[in-house]
Amino acid sequence: MKISQKQLSDLVKAAQKASKNSYSPYSKKKIGAALLLENKKIVTGCNIENASYGGTVCAERVALWKSLSENPKAKVTEIAVFSNEAKPWSPCGMCRQVMIEFCDIKTRIHLVNKSGIQKTFTLGELLPEAFNTSDLI
Ligand code: THU
Repeated sequence: MKISQKQLSDLVKAAQKASKNSYSPYSKKKIGAALLLENKKIVTGCNIENASYGGTVCAERVALWKSLSENPKAKVTEIAVFSNEAKPWSPCGMCRQVMIEFCDIKTRIHLVNKSGIQKTFTLGELLPEAFNTSDLI
């Protein structure tokens, strides 16, 4: 889906804002994610860590689950992931797998830091030869 520069900059700002709510006392990495839905809504999430470490959830999955639980039918068309790091913060394998369940290989993922968008990938580029729902039919 083609989106405007304004929609993209709103998405990037939303990801940065969401990172401020990060609960990350262990890694100290404040990550924010923002999803643009087909209905033009933006849904955000931040990473939420846990003393057990394994209970930690990444910003991308927090945003996806918020979105899915509130707008189960709305497709995600574009994602921005913000971190304060110089090197763009790339979605982990688990997040990529969750994304392929609910997004599209064409869904664009923008990796963003304070200086703006550093890299943009499609989900197909981040997760080639994905195992997904069609493999179970
Ligand atoms: N993290 C994310 O929020 N997204 C990713 O895709 C990779 C990792 C978070 C989880 C944890 O709070 C911190 O980054 C360090 O791994």
